[in-house]
Amino acid sequence: MFRASFIYLSQAAWAKQIISNWSVARRAASRFVAGEKLEDALQAVERLNQEGFNTTLDHLGEHTSTEQKAYNATEDIIAIIDSIENTNTRASISIKLTQIGLAIDKKLCEKNLEKILSHASQKSSFVRIDMEDSPWIDNTLELYWKMRNDHNLHNVGLVIQSYLYRSVEDVERLMSGGGKVRLCKGAYKEPKEIAYPKKPDVDANFDRISKLLIDQALQLGAEGVSEDGRIPPLCAIASHDQDRLEFAKDYAHEVGLSKSALEFQMLYGIRRELQNQCLEEGYPVRIYIPYGTEWYPYFTRRLAERPANLWFFISNYFRN
Ligand code: FDA
Repeated sequence: MFRASFIYLSQAAWAKQIISNWSVARRAASRFVAGEKLEDALQAVERLNQEGFNTTLDHLGEHTSTEQKAYNATEDIIAIIDSIENTNTRASISIKLTQIGLAIDKKLCEKNLEKILSHASQKSSFVRIDMEDSPWIDNTLELYWKMRNDHNLHNVGLVIQSYLYRSVEDVERLMSGGGKVRLCKGAYKEPKEIAYPKKPDVDANFDRISKLLIDQALQLGAEGVSEDGRIPPLCAIASHDQDRLEFAKDYAHEVGLSKSALEFQMLYGIRRELQNQCLEEGYPVRIYIPYGTEWYPYFTRRLAERPANLWFFISNYFRN
């Protein structure tokens, strides 16, 4: 109920209008968002790189409503790719397809995605396509395969959400093509007809898919993160749930997958002690760094994940 209400709010235009302009909310969001400008995010990247983390940059934005805005978002992403090269940072890029036009027209999105991936390919950069809620999944998968098969662009990876019943099948198909996968639990409210409603089932499916990814990484040569930190390995486990991480570590150890081929990914500002622990144990850790003025839906999804975050938000109000 709590989670459903916040996920509803994350998509409600009226709530976005009110909360985005509220300075208390902006201050609370800064725990999860590196700032409003690319320079803010690059500072966070630099600091995290110095500590030994790799990063992925997300210029926040989704459900872009006009062709011009989708074009602008595409150009912004290209500018991030250039900044990563110019500043020589250990960063990849994460994007959402509705940010670059999927909610307007699939062909437009394809054109923009190809432009981004071609540019990233020239700069030896890697682009991860985040997975959005279920209405976008088939088109996201279709465009991913189009990029690889029709445009010969392979510097791209996808996200699989363990709360969906379909995910084992999707991941098997992705792995058969040597795809790079980030596994997460899933951040949206999905109906019980398509997603496990209970957390233990989501967790069990997460472990099941972790195993598949680890087996596949081992079979394909256990490639690690690229030297410059920009290209992740085949298998990326994205969670702050210690049990899920321990399961993946134990299984990888049991089958003999080297630590360098098992990347953990976590969100900026969440469970820093766990981020440090994984790093100290010798695993590559990539921090997902969101930035930009469109922080409202991202922030609300973070509130939805953890009721305690609401108290953090309220305490910010009283500190005002
Ligand atoms: P879980 O929710 O069980 O949390 C485990 C523990 O982590 C909690 O007990 C708490 O300590 C801590 N924690 C988790 N969320 C927190 C929060 N918001 N604030 C404070 N503490 C928190 N989803 C999606 O649908 N599509 C995508 O493309 C991505 N991409 C993505 C990238 C990366 C790098 C990460 C880490 C996550 C995503 N997600 C995502 C989000 C993901 O689906 C999921 O919603 C969150 O990671 C929370 O789930 P956990 O696996 O952390 O477990």
